Amino acid sequence: MDDALDSTAYKSLETGTLTVAQAGQPPTTAPYAMRRLGLDDLAAVFTVQQYVHGALEEPSLFYPGTRELLSECLSDRGLVVGTFVGGRLVGFRSIFYPGPSADNFGHDIGLHGDALDQVAYLDRTAVEPAYRGNRLQIRMTTHAIRLATEIRPCVHLFSTVAPTNFASMKDKFTAEMQVVRTTRKYLDYWRHLFYRNLVSPLGINATTAAKVSGDNFATQLDLVEERGYVAYGIERCGANAPMISFARPGRPIRPR
Ligand SMILES: CC(C)(COP(=O)(O)OP(=O)(O)OC[C@H]1O[C@@H](n2cnc3c(N)ncnc32)[C@H](O)[C@@H]1OP(=O)(O)O)[C@@H](O)C(=O)NCCC(=O)NCCS
Repeated sequence: MDDALDSTAYKSLETGTLTVAQAGQPPTTAPYAMRRLGLDDLAAVFTVQQYVHGALEEPSLFYPGTRELLSECLSDRGLVVGTFVGGRLVGFRSIFYPGPSADNFGHDIGLHGDALDQVAYLDRTAVEPAYRGNRLQIRMTTHAIRLATEIRPCVHLFSTVAPTNFASMKDKFTAEMQVVRTTRKYLDYWRHLFYRNLVSPLGINATTAAKVSGDNFATQLDLVEERGYVAYGIERCGANAPMISFARPGRPIRPR
């Protein structure tokens, strides 16, 4: 195996203490460690993904990656950051470089030519239920974006999120991404397409700001697809669906 891809070669990105949920008992704490993963972590990544997908009440929220895709992310077409507790993987975040393929999300905002080579996806992420609530996704995403830009030049960052997956939307907004399209992906499921230009941020036109409930999908779709708005934030509203912030972008989405 290439030394650079041997997971033992990757240094620790972060350590700390997590709160761990336990069925029917008070939560406990446990130390964790975060590092970049290598190809020899493939089986563990696949196991976490299958476990998390199997435990979902609404499986359409998360479209699992194939073993081949995860393997590409763990090698030279992406990178994966993982969190370990007691030496066992409990969560991961993957990045994928799609290359100039016909289904590159760049086409959704009018990118073409060399720009498609500068696209990276925030691809799959999963955290085992017992370890949720520690902002692990956001922590792993922050490391992954930094590493992705260090490894190769990437300008255009994309990700898709189901419109009701609010924890994952929060992750993307925290990563300074905006919803620039709302479209059907993966076997026809609706997805918000998140985008961040890592070189030249879109910004927002604050005078056009509006808030829409997270359960009012029709208005979200109309704002993004018919009226040229982007979504840029989410805030919890007690027991109600969170409110999502929309505005016109500060400049045209498609780079000139
Ligand atoms: C999505 C997932 C990785 C998030 O796990 P996590 O990192 O433990 O998430 P947390 O519970 O710590 O929540 C992260 C943030 O989302 C926010 N959030 C969670 N649910 C929310 C909701 N209903 N409305 C608004 N914000 C919400 C939290 O408040 C937190 O932000 P804050 O710390 O600023 O308050 C995890 O739920 C998971 O594995 N889900 C199944 C797989 C999946 O859906 N993956 C994403 C698609 S690829």
